[in-house]
Amino acid sequence: MFVMGLDLGTGGAKALVLNTATSAIEAQATAPVELHHPQPGWSQQHPADWWSAACTAIKGALSNAPCAAGDIKAIGLSGQMHGCTLVDAQDQPVTPALLWNDQRTAAQCRALADVWPNATWRARLGKPPMAGLTLPSLCWIRDHEPDAFAQATGLLLPKDFIRLHLTGERATDAGDGSGTLLLDLHTRDWAHNLCEALALDPTLLPRVVEGPDVSGTVTQAAAIATGLALGTPVVGGGGDQQAGGVGCGITRPGTVSLNLGTSGVIFAALDAAPEHLPRGLHGFCHSMPDRWHVMGVMLAAGGALRWWRDVCGVDYDTLLAEARPSAGVCFQPYLSGERTPHEDPSLTGGFTGLQLHHDRGHMTTALLEGVAFGLRDGLELIRNVTVVDHLRFVGGAASSEVWRQLIADVMGCPVATINTAEGSALGACILAAVGAGAFGSVDDACDAMVHEASVTHPRADRTADWAAWRDQCSTGSASD
Ligand code: XUL
Repeated sequence: MFVMGLDLGTGGAKALVLNTATSAIEAQATAPVELHHPQPGWSQQHPADWWSAACTAIKGALSNAPCAAGDIKAIGLSGQMHGCTLVDAQDQPVTPALLWNDQRTAAQCRALADVWPNATWRARLGKPPMAGLTLPSLCWIRDHEPDAFAQATGLLLPKDFIRLHLTGERATDAGDGSGTLLLDLHTRDWAHNLCEALALDPTLLPRVVEGPDVSGTVTQAAAIATGLALGTPVVGGGGDQQAGGVGCGITRPGTVSLNLGTSGVIFAALDAAPEHLPRGLHGFCHSMPDRWHVMGVMLAAGGALRWWRDVCGVDYDTLLAEARPSAGVCFQPYLSGERTPHEDPSLTGGFTGLQLHHDRGHMTTALLEGVAFGLRDGLELIRNVTVVDHLRFVGGAASSEVWRQLIADVMGCPVATINTAEGSALGACILAAVGAGAFGSVDDACDAMVHEASVTHPRADRTADWAAWRDQCSTGSASD
């Protein structure tokens, strides 16, 4: 059977065609989307650009696929989370969408924090009000663009704007919905008492489905715009983090993923809604019924190394070749503030412990260690809520042996690579395949399609050394 996955990232749309019998990706295509920063800290996109990128990517993938459009049995959607997209009665956006990395909503977050105690936000919604989440962005539009807000009849997430165009349906899935700060993790439905407390019209909110459930079918207009067959089912899908979890087989407790790209995301699946989450760890619904997940996000992980490469003006190979024991130098990796574990956008990065004999090689190692320790802070929080058997390491850094061994040693657990790097778009395909009946469950589909390729084991002596060194760093008494 053939299915399609469409992932709407911040950089653009990507469509994959998957053959469920062979697990082979038969065709793919991408199309970019422009990002706008009209003021410092603002980050927005035009929803119309999402739809045209989605049409280009879908048409491109179909044109390379070894099957006819009518052979695609279902489409799964995944996308950048949290983006606040308001549409009017004619389904037209009333403002540009405010994205996940938009920082303009500090005042709205403070106001929301007065509505409920912090512990209630965490227990019901999985996280406290934070800039970039959908609800604070919605409140910002209500406060600053009241005329546009008054015209809005629907609130959508980015990929759900694509769904609206594909199917005419206003719907989301529980996973992406749980990134809005409006969805109760326990009921997997909108938190109606919160809407009441905020005087928010509940008819703005879309219908909630589960990730593999069919949410609608491709309309005549969408078939003409994309080349898809009329009537093709479109399943709920997931936010890019949930779909990415599915795409690397993280559906049950035990195996935890670390996605190390610009940011570093640690992701663990749970089989019950999280109740008592520590500060810095955030809870969501997963993309399948009766599963949840927690996630820790380090904002500048691989991004810190890229910054250092640019500052030094050399390439990664040169930097990593001269790396040597950090000899007392420490690096705090908070170049973009931090979500996990500190939940503080005002934090800054820095090197400490520098002396005259230190050079770039010491500083490079200190930077790698600082990133690894920051990620371990996230893993320790996850160890408080669920068991961590081993890690699956994905993202750009997973191809580096230096990173793999460092992460295994610092985390003190085995680190596996997997057979696919397709992430969220593959997860969207898997959810479509389950919706179309190719597999009985998301677990079964992942077991069939995602395998571990290599395992790096921690070296016990190094793990002990790292633990001691980290303690020294955090008490500020690091020395040779
Ligand atoms: C998840 C998050 C990002 C966006 C963009 O909480 O903010 O991963 O989904 O991809």
